[in-house]
Amino acid sequence: MTKQDAIRPQSGSGEGPPRGGPRHVAIIMDGNGRWAQARGKPRLFGHQAGGRRVREIVECCPEFGVEYLTVFAFSTENWKRTQAEVAGLMTLFKRYIVKEATALRDNGVRVRFIGDRDRLEPKLVEMMHRLEVLTAGNEALHLTIAINYGGRDEVARATRRLARDVKNGRLDPEDVDAETLARYLDTYVLPDPDLVIRTSGEARISNFLLWQSAYAEYEFVDTLWPDFTREIFAEILAGYSRRERRFGAVSG
Ligand code: FPP
Repeated sequence: MTKQDAIRPQSGSGEGPPRGGPRHVAIIMDGNGRWAQARGKPRLFGHQAGGRRVREIVECCPEFGVEYLTVFAFSTENWKRTQAEVAGLMTLFKRYIVKEATALRDNGVRVRFIGDRDRLEPKLVEMMHRLEVLTAGNEALHLTIAINYGGRDEVARATRRLARDVKNGRLDPEDVDAETLARYLDTYVLPDPDLVIRTSGEARISNFLLWQSAYAEYEFVDTLWPDFTREIFAEILAGYSRRERRFGAVSG
């Protein structure tokens, strides 16, 4: 174990990243709307193109040594979009599950969803659950899809559950530390992301994996998500491997 691995905080279980490439990559897939607009098309056209990119990037992760991929598909703030766009996105998620389920299962991808399911339509929630069950035995790639997810909301929900355990005597308040709280997060089984990528030239985190990305490297690229290719992805991963991560320690 390297010095970095030894001091690497984890929000969940698992060991540190293999030397070189990132073990866990998280992506804020931004720019679908602008991509569609530039072509004189409705925003949903961009989201559909974005969905095809998800498939392409999922496919190349095992080859690139990425074990965990987490994508931001719908935020707790995205409900503010028009009803038509929200409905279109929900339909797109359902179509993705129907179309990709078999390939995901056969390609060894384990799918998980994070976010608050309470506000999602029951049909979609059921499909999400079925896909999780269908792929539960896989481990070539751990794909996590964030739907109705917000970092602050996740911490608030985690805190609520933790407070309930304190109230019912299952947890001593004196034992609560960062590791304890992490166990109540949606991501409790995942290692922290090593690299967070945001497309479309915006340099914001937008409430994505706030707790988990405390020590992540960030990469902001100008490419709009529907134009994001495996070649661009490979270039970013190579750039990451050249960086030095110290996790608060000094180099050497
Ligand atoms: C941000 O672009 C993108 C979204 C809010 C939706 C992301 C959804 C997908 C990529 C569709 C498929 C996903 C899965 C998992 C099947 P934006 O609309 O904010 O773009 P803009 O900033 O150019 O308006």
